Amino acid sequence: DWTPASFVHETVEELKKQIGNHHVIMALSGGVDSTVAATLISKAIGNRLHGIFVDNGVLRKDEFQQVLDTYKTIGLNVTGIDAKDLFYDEFKDKTDPEAKRKVIGRLFIDVFQEEAKKVAGVKFLGQGTIYPDVIESVSVHGPSQTIKSHHNVGGLPDTMHLDLVEPLRYLFKDEVRKVGLEMGIPADMINRHPFPGPGLAIRILGEVTAEKVALLQAADDIYIKALKSHNLYSQVWQAGAILLPVKSVGVMGDERTYEFTVALRAVTSVDGMTADWAHLPYEFLAHVSNEIINNVRGINRVVYDISSKPPATIEWE
Ligand code: XMP
Repeated sequence: DWTPASFVHETVEELKKQIGNHHVIMALSGGVDSTVAATLISKAIGNRLHGIFVDNGVLRKDEFQQVLDTYKTIGLNVTGIDAKDLFYDEFKDKTDPEAKRKVIGRLFIDVFQEEAKKVAGVKFLGQGTIYPDVIESVSVHGPSQTIKSHHNVGGLPDTMHLDLVEPLRYLFKDEVRKVGLEMGIPADMINRHPFPGPGLAIRILGEVTAEKVALLQAADDIYIKALKSHNLYSQVWQAGAILLPVKSVGVMGDERTYEFTVALRAVTSVDGMTADWAHLPYEFLAHVSNEIINNVRGINRVVYDISSKPPATIEWE
């Protein structure tokens, strides 16, 4: 019988055999899959697991520090790398969504490889690949290419000549969560919504700048905290705010404002392939709208996205 406890026990034994005395490097994203995979590997080999978590400048507000703190609580050996400025430099003048994704993928690989070089004699690459990723990448890329280009941490090139360690390869998401809880990973981390690898860069329509990131982080943070405090967070599959590249007129006191618009998005879904817009209560939406407009200077209008997938997508880019 499959139980989370027996899975943890057996997997840790297998990992010890597979890895022996070698070292493993692994890109961590702050997401559920990579965290659970890293925790299993860490149970097997301790600090011979070298996790790397990159701040690409388009994480959520305070996310870099919070995720690093969680890794510390779990006892993972992780290096956090602040590469924000590197990413902001390259976002300059990039307005096409795919161009932005390419910048993020490429810089991430550069930063990761640079860090990986510092770990002497590394032989393995840890990955949080789960069963649906395996099926998807086999059908899309053929059996030899097992890293999804869309995967949260971005595909790493074969040129690194590392063998893969993928302890979650045969698990579905709900099993991954159970295994994570079994190992004592905080429930906050286990129950996080999915978050795209390109982060807020694809939720800022058009060019991404540090100023726009700060605006969106502030609005998004108000929205997500409110979802949690109103017990709505766990009822939606994914939620976030989108900064639109339009300014509109507003009024504050007796002054006219001309500021940005933010769209709120929340969807219910099983797997992200199809999704329905979440029917959040009007009172809740009104509360979040007021909080954002009253507290985030630079945003004077909030709208709610009532489109379902298909034909709309979850992300706006
Ligand atoms: P869409 O917008 O295609 O999103 O309906 C479906 C799910 O995929 C996530 N998403 C991405 N994740 N890199 C990722 O790692 C990406 O480029 C990317 N684009 C979309 C999205 O957040 C949703 O969960």
